[in-house]
Amino acid sequence: MLPGINLSIAMTFNSSLVKMRRFVDRDQLMHPEEKKKIAAQAALEFVRPGSIIGVGTGSTVNHFIDLLAQKIPGDIEAAVSSSKASTERMQKLGIRVIELNDAGQLSIYVDGADESNHQLQLIKGGGGALTREKIIAAASDQFICIADESKLVDSLGKFPLPVEVIPMARNLVSQALEKLGGNPVWREKFITDNGNSVLDIHDLQIENALELENQINQITGVVSVGLFAHRPADVLILGSDDGVQKLEI
Ligand code: 5RP
Repeated sequence: MLPGINLSIAMTFNSSLVKMRRFVDRDQLMHPEEKKKIAAQAALEFVRPGSIIGVGTGSTVNHFIDLLAQKIPGDIEAAVSSSKASTERMQKLGIRVIELNDAGQLSIYVDGADESNHQLQLIKGGGGALTREKIIAAASDQFICIADESKLVDSLGKFPLPVEVIPMARNLVSQALEKLGGNPVWREKFITDNGNSVLDIHDLQIENALELENQINQITGVVSVGLFAHRPADVLILGSDDGVQKLEI
């Protein structure tokens, strides 16, 4: 008879079922931006009325800034910003931005990350704001890190580690970073808000983040490294398909 036809009808039917199922599953998955947004929303709980808070840089923090401006306009006294981009966004939305020197100790710092391990040690600086981010994190009682779930990793280093360097020392620092086992790549045509260059270290096996942070900090010409091991996050809020997860140390 016509077994071939039956087989091809069955195959067509099966493959459209598979397609339908894939479509339904995809439909139920949250968009990465939505995951960032729910993490940012959850961070609002940590904002105390009347406080001065630190605000980081990046697409996740942009959600936080927008939500902060909508939910509690004028409710915080002011913010200290880690970049010109975040300052501009906050000021446009009516959030008062002040200098860290005029703020003193901050209650919280809210910022994103490029990677976090389970000890909440971070790689940051994908947006190039690592030095100001490190300064504000150091000046804050609590560091609330917000991200989508893809940022949580078992071992740091897949994301190239950013290092801010004084421009004239770029090659000198590169050679020293190669000796540490990395492959530094100059982020060309990029100047930080502090007027410096950035080297992104690829192919690093980060086994001891505390030690590596010390080693890189000791290289002459380094302004700062985007490894947040000595000052990890205190709380990591991750947006996922299942909602928000909070990790604390
Ligand atoms: C900027 C940063 C950011 O926090 C980091 O790059 C994460 O950014 P995003 O929220 O866009 O993923 O360190 O210097």
